[in-house]
Amino acid sequence: MYPLVRNRLFKTDAETAHDAVIKWLKRFGRLPLLPRLVRTLYTVPDTNLKQELWGLTFENPVGLAAGMDKTGDESLLGWQAFGLGFLETGGFTLKGQPGNEKPRMHRIVADEAIINRMGFNNPGAEKAAQTLAYVKPRLRIPLFINVGKGKDTAIENAPKEYADIVEILWLCGDGFVLNVSSPNTLGLRALQGKDFLRAVVQAVQDRTKRLPLGRHREPKPILVKVAPDLTDPELDDVLLVLTELRVSGVIATNTTIGREGLSVPTDKAWGLSGPPLFPKSLRMVRYIHVKAPELPIIGCGGIRSLETAYQMRCAGARLLQLYTGLVYHGPRLVPTINRGLSCQL
Ligand SMILES: Cc1cc2nc3c(=O)[nH]c(=O)nc-3n(C[C@H](O)[C@H](O)[C@H](O)COP(=O)(O)O)c2cc1C
Repeated sequence: MYPLVRNRLFKTDAETAHDAVIKWLKRFGRLPLLPRLVRTLYTVPDTNLKQELWGLTFENPVGLAAGMDKTGDESLLGWQAFGLGFLETGGFTLKGQPGNEKPRMHRIVADEAIINRMGFNNPGAEKAAQTLAYVKPRLRIPLFINVGKGKDTAIENAPKEYADIVEILWLCGDGFVLNVSSPNTLGLRALQGKDFLRAVVQAVQDRTKRLPLGRHREPKPILVKVAPDLTDPELDDVLLVLTELRVSGVIATNTTIGREGLSVPTDKAWGLSGPPLFPKSLRMVRYIHVKAPELPIIGCGGIRSLETAYQMRCAGARLLQLYTGLVYHGPRLVPTINRGLSCQL
């Protein structure tokens, strides 16, 4: 079924197809019974897949990566129906912004990859909080909220801005992801430097100390999402800060600015996702797991099959996230991975 849908979708440009899918998911998510029925069909009932982490229950390890839903609307209810264990929405900035000019999302079909330079197109934290106030109570799986700095925000003001956004969205999410790794906002990746990262994490931790606790009265997890293009010494610095400040976990990785593994050359200096990213994200997960074994890792980047999901888990990822794999393989990828992991477990 999905190959037919895909053929149709791939006749239009990547962003138009994406918007059409999100619109459809929004309508589907609002229906009274059908999403629940679909969810039973897509769910793999195996308690071995279940994990308790950060006071949250993950029925299975497969989640939706950031950027697929950028508004926090009812399309999240649609995604929930496809048997995912958790969702991530955003990235949200403090003020709404249109993102970079179009075209800004492009498929590289030969490599099952995508390159994008979306640039945090989003409605802003206040508007997202209003939308999520309706959606969040209808979600039965954990929701993470991805946070980034605005296009015009000076890097010195970023720590306060991350703290402001997290505070505005605090009641709407089960956990937060400090995104310091998108390649499409000028200066954002500099926040991975030791001093800036410490300032961002500390600002968020100081602010959230006074805010209500999450489920089971545990503190809501705050994670940091890293770029696959960090050198080992740079990653060592990041890990030093994360362990020193007892950050809840790490997402490895965001898109890459490297072009290794692409069979077709491209002149677009945008963020690359999908299979060409996989060797880098896998290596990074393995590296983090060895250097900071106590730090929970969400593995993301190029997962497109049971085999790649299994490799990510063996490398040390507790949870997994999908984006580009869903575009090329459709939502069946979720139960395919879960069923396979269930057999291997
Ligand atoms: C169009 C697009 C938009 C994205 N937007 C975000 C974002 O806003 N925040 C973020 O942290 N990651 C964002 N990502 C990165 C994904 O969450 C993920 O880290 C990356 O695509 C690698 O996973 P994949 O190979 O499964 O796609 C985006 C990716 C794509 C393709």
